[in-house]
Amino acid sequence: MERTFLMIKPDGVQRGLIGRIVSRLEDKGFKLVGGKFVTATEEQAKRHYAEHEGKAFYDNLISFITSGPVFAMVWEGDDIITISRMVIGKTKVTEAQPGTIRGDFANHTPLNLIHGSDSVESAEREIANFFDENELSVYDKNISAWI
Ligand code: TYD
Ligand code: MG
Repeated sequence: MERTFLMIKPDGVQRGLIGRIVSRLEDKGFKLVGGKFVTATEEQAKRHYAEHEGKAFYDNLISFITSGPVFAMVWEGDDIITISRMVIGKTKVTEAQPGTIRGDFANHTPLNLIHGSDSVESAEREIANFFDENELSVYDKNISAWI
């Protein structure tokens, strides 16, 4: 079982796409174990995007991601890091295929709606940057005992 950090960016929150984005991941069978609104501090955003420091798009990316609330989430599932990035679609909106979240809803590259961790190490670092362990819920997908 793997965990990943997924974050609906300010454009996704402002466009009212939280529900539809969450639905796609639920439909795929993944489990949401944590979620909350956060307005990222500059330090938090810089830790999150440390790998991109110095790149041409970096300053704009930090300004954008701290410009308003994001919906930060932790999800669980087998191979979720690879599969969730397939569900999300390619970074550049000109390359994101229809059927993916970005391919269906995004039309400008920095405003590509959602972040997804790209490795187990990044996921651990990104989760720790936004969540305390006690904010993550452990539960079974089994309601039959209540029927
Ligand atoms: P990156 O980690 O490469 O993409 P992904 O979000 O798919 O993991 O880049 C982080 C964000 O930086 C990306 O979602 C949008 C922005 N970005 C640009 O604005 N221009 C670019 O050329 C790239 C590569 C990224
Ligand atoms: Mg990335």
